[in-house]
Amino acid sequence: MRTHYSTQLDKNSVGKEVCLAGFVNSYRDHGGVIFLDLRDKEGLIQLVCDPEVSKQAHELASSFRDEYVICAKGKVRLRGEGLVNSKLKTGEIEVVCSEVELINSAKALPFDVNDLNVNEELRLKYRFLSLRNPKLLDNFKKRSIITTAARNALTELGFMEVETPILTKATPEGARDYLVPSRVHEGEFYALPQSPQLFKQLLMVAGFDKYFQIAKCFRDEDLRADRQPEFTQIDVEMSFCDQEMVMQNAEQFLRKTFASVGIAMPQNVRRMTYNEAMENYGSDKPDLRFDMPFIDVADIFAKSNNAIFSEPAKDSKKNRVKAIVVKNGDNIFSKRQMQGFEEYVRKFGAKGLAFIQMKEDGPKGPLTKFFDDEGKELIDFLKKEADFSVGDVVFFGVGAKKTVLDYMGRFRLFLANELKLIDENRFEFLWVVDFPMFEQNDDGTYSAMHHPFTMPKNIDAPIDEISSVAYDIVLNGVELGGGSIRIHKSDIQQKVFKLLNISEEEQKEKFGFLLDALSYGAPSHGGFAIGLDRLLMLVTKSSSIRDVIAFPKTQRAQCLMTDAPSAVSFAQLNELHISLKEKK
Ligand code: AMO
Repeated sequence: MRTHYSTQLDKNSVGKEVCLAGFVNSYRDHGGVIFLDLRDKEGLIQLVCDPEVSKQAHELASSFRDEYVICAKGKVRLRGEGLVNSKLKTGEIEVVCSEVELINSAKALPFDVNDLNVNEELRLKYRFLSLRNPKLLDNFKKRSIITTAARNALTELGFMEVETPILTKATPEGARDYLVPSRVHEGEFYALPQSPQLFKQLLMVAGFDKYFQIAKCFRDEDLRADRQPEFTQIDVEMSFCDQEMVMQNAEQFLRKTFASVGIAMPQNVRRMTYNEAMENYGSDKPDLRFDMPFIDVADIFAKSNNAIFSEPAKDSKKNRVKAIVVKNGDNIFSKRQMQGFEEYVRKFGAKGLAFIQMKEDGPKGPLTKFFDDEGKELIDFLKKEADFSVGDVVFFGVGAKKTVLDYMGRFRLFLANELKLIDENRFEFLWVVDFPMFEQNDDGTYSAMHHPFTMPKNIDAPIDEISSVAYDIVLNGVELGGGSIRIHKSDIQQKVFKLLNISEEEQKEKFGFLLDALSYGAPSHGGFAIGLDRLLMLVTKSSSIRDVIAFPKTQRAQCLMTDAPSAVSFAQLNELHISLKEKK
């Protein structure tokens, strides 16, 4: 229908006869002449309906309202002197209409599509309207550019795109499965894939050598700003490789992918071990757009004259004593504010939050009296490690290792936000390597930290000391992706299952096909998966992953537009051999 998109026109188009189509973004009647802003997927352009030029255009346009869908024919001209709109790409020109057509009218809208501050529930219910917002539309343009770039980069690197099933068997990635009942097999269920993990490994056994897929994954887990029940991974696997080769391939493809939207990834991405990340930043995905690492002060606290501090400090297996020096913090925060920070860390299990302010006349804080030397050694150490000086403040976390690292890690981020230390325009990439193979759950049992198909480095060591050939790529404190070298021998796979307390029977039932495949000549292999939605959330600087997914779910995993999930008919349930328990 149209000859151009709005932004294809500029002052070089003056005099051209054009035909445009789109939505009425705004409407103004200026003493008989009607001005419309027409919006199409590229931007806005001003249309002028002057009765002196076209009676038809003026008459019909006077019935137009916001979001009417129209088509307009006319001639491009320069705007009058002083009427240029420098905010618009097409701000120097306008189209004088000779004819307009109403393609469809629109009811009064529940909200202004240009306003992003509207209640999110309303925006999700009318998702087709909120997606008309140019900022949101822009996110999807980036999504398309990035997906294409990723696909091209991986193809150039020799990876082949293969689709794997959605109706499948459970693949453990640590979340609950979404189940689909089988009509044909009474009482049996498919699981939607949490990732294509096992299939991509089986493609390596099949000899495909280098695979990728832009894959939908499904996980029934508690949702957060960077989690959706249904999300997309760029999933990759390769044969005959070591960790270094996989990481190089990942970097090469990511570098091209980020370059497609103008983001330069460094030639050598920084690396850190899991242990370093946890001990220095309290997170396996540290945000390195600012530094402020922890300082370990356990050795000094072990000499405290108060057992509350010295006892935990002496047991380095179980506990941690960490300090965070905030440069200039004493000048910025009031004492009251600093006392208030305790409330924040208490939410994450802290018993308290001691601090020392560095004043002109020396350190101030109740903690100093718990050292025979009034804290001299401690202060000297902090001076050496973090240039602790007048105007600074230092906070201390003491207690169980997991708890201290967790709340001090959160506190570090909290402080950075309070102090506005984070440069939103920076992109800080980091590889975290050398993950432990297992982690202990609160009930004492063990889970695989990545997944049970990850190659352990030292399978015969005590379970707490087994590490894995696994790596995560982190961007600005968000886990962008992760991967590992996989187990390609069935005896090692069985050993890992055993350590996870998966009985032989269960192994056969759940993963028999994998164990079987590994015994028919499986190449060594490894790979990774990047969360495409998270990547886009970061690239578009969105605060939620929902802004880069066309039809996302709410925190309660609902689609407010289609009303999914919803009840189904008795007949459907019957066909699926399902009867519902009465609702409590
Ligand atoms: P993992 O479970 O770490 O690894 O997932 C890889 C990446 O997927 C993204 N991601 C999510 N994004 C949005 N919503 C979610 N609920 C969600 N869960 C995960 C993250 C994450 O880093 N099979 C392995 C990969 C491999 O070993 O090759 C896997 O799925 O960005």
